[in-house]
Amino acid sequence: MRRVRIIGVGPGDPEQVTLEAVAAMRSVAYFVVADKGRDDPLLAAREALLARHVGSARVIAVPDPERDRSAATTGADASYLGAVADWHDARAAAYERAILGHDGDVGFLVWGDPAFYDSTIRIVEKVLARGNADFSWDVIPGVSSLQLLAARHRIVLHEIGQPITVTTARRLRAAVESGADNIVVMLNAHIDLDGLDHWDVWWGANLGTPHERLVGGQVGDVLAELHEARAAVKSAAGWIMDVYLLRRAAHRRDR
Ligand SMILES: C[S@@+](CC[C@H](N)C(=O)[O-])C[C@H]1O[C@@H](n2cnc3c(N)ncnc32)[C@H](O)[C@@H]1O
Repeated sequence: MRRVRIIGVGPGDPEQVTLEAVAAMRSVAYFVVADKGRDDPLLAAREALLARHVGSARVIAVPDPERDRSAATTGADASYLGAVADWHDARAAAYERAILGHDGDVGFLVWGDPAFYDSTIRIVEKVLARGNADFSWDVIPGVSSLQLLAARHRIVLHEIGQPITVTTARRLRAAVESGADNIVVMLNAHIDLDGLDHWDVWWGANLGTPHERLVGGQVGDVLAELHEARAAVKSAAGWIMDVYLLRRAAHRRDR
């Protein structure tokens, strides 16, 4: 039976691809990738990764369906989730066509680890649920950007025995209000840390790439530096992906 392999390839550095991921990449007949156009910041990284670990790889580029990003669908949660579900359905249909149109095992390359803020697993489940393509599938873990953030800053993401909240910029305020002390924030269209001056922050952008930048310290002391670094990375690399850990000041905790 045909195999679909969802392969986590780490957050940017070809050195941070596991041996298991390399073996999986070499085992498939071709890769299906979402084609977001020449402006896709990950295009060059993906090409470098394949050149380094596979050699000449067969890549089936599938034009990425448009996602509804109108104000109506970015405001309320229900309409946001509805827009994302529609987009995933369209992606599933496109991936199904790519899979049915080509023979052999298929690889999906996933940035970082497939378990964090990536929908490839959900979309592959949707392809199966459509009932037209029959395959087995597996997931190969990758190094996540949040692990690389911790390694670069040489920190543990939580204090002894404490929980971590991993969330998105959209939900940061809800995490703060819920009393979370250690919050990892991903998918940052903007960074808004108003009122969090006494928290500590460990921030990293474009980790594992030549444009990597780190900033750490108390929010009130380093916020200006962080915004400058963000702008500098974006202008030098042409794109930015950043992740950070926020930790509530010890004397303000509920314990
Ligand atoms: C669509 S999510 C994918 C996360 C990915 N699956 C992972 O495990 O890191 C993209 C977000 O991950 C974070 N991210 C991914 N790669 C990064 C990198 N090289 N440096 C900093 N943040 C990164 C950013 O918050 C970005 O907005």
